[in-house]
Amino acid sequence: MKLDEQELSEIELLLGGLEQTKEAALMKKYIQHGQISTYDHVISVVRLSFYLNRRFHLGASEAELVRGAFLHDFYLYDWHENGYIGRFHGLHHPRIALQNAKERYDLSETECNIIESHMWPLTIFAVPKCRAAFIVCLADKICSSYETLVRKRALPC
Ligand SMILES: [Fe+2]
Ligand SMILES: [Fe+2]
Repeated sequence: MKLDEQELSEIELLLGGLEQTKEAALMKKYIQHGQISTYDHVISVVRLSFYLNRRFHLGASEAELVRGAFLHDFYLYDWHENGYIGRFHGLHHPRIALQNAKERYDLSETECNIIESHMWPLTIFAVPKCRAAFIVCLADKICSSYETLVRKRALPC
């Protein structure tokens, strides 16, 4: 995957400061996979989702895609240290992320669907219903696999 400087600037504009909040700072402290923070993971998913959508002309709204991808793991806890929730993190965290995001931001239906369905098919009834949600669901699996199995670091771009 290779995004140019112009595309990285576009992504920053579309994020509109989402990546500079105190919650984003918290996400830098939580480990997602291997040695990757939740923040680095969601940034990788944002970039890969943007890349797939643009390079393959998939036609999803870039603004919703980028915002939904950034917020898809907005659950705001360390799942390795979270008792019951930690054990069932895979199942529960999309709903928690959606609730946290809704409390702080006005979300479109597409952005909500991106967040709640990104673990599909594990969450059987939370199905991606639009292109943007399918793209993030796929990008999340690619980034997670890369971080866990291959490099223990974020996907390069
Ligand atoms: Fe997730
Ligand atoms: Fe994720």
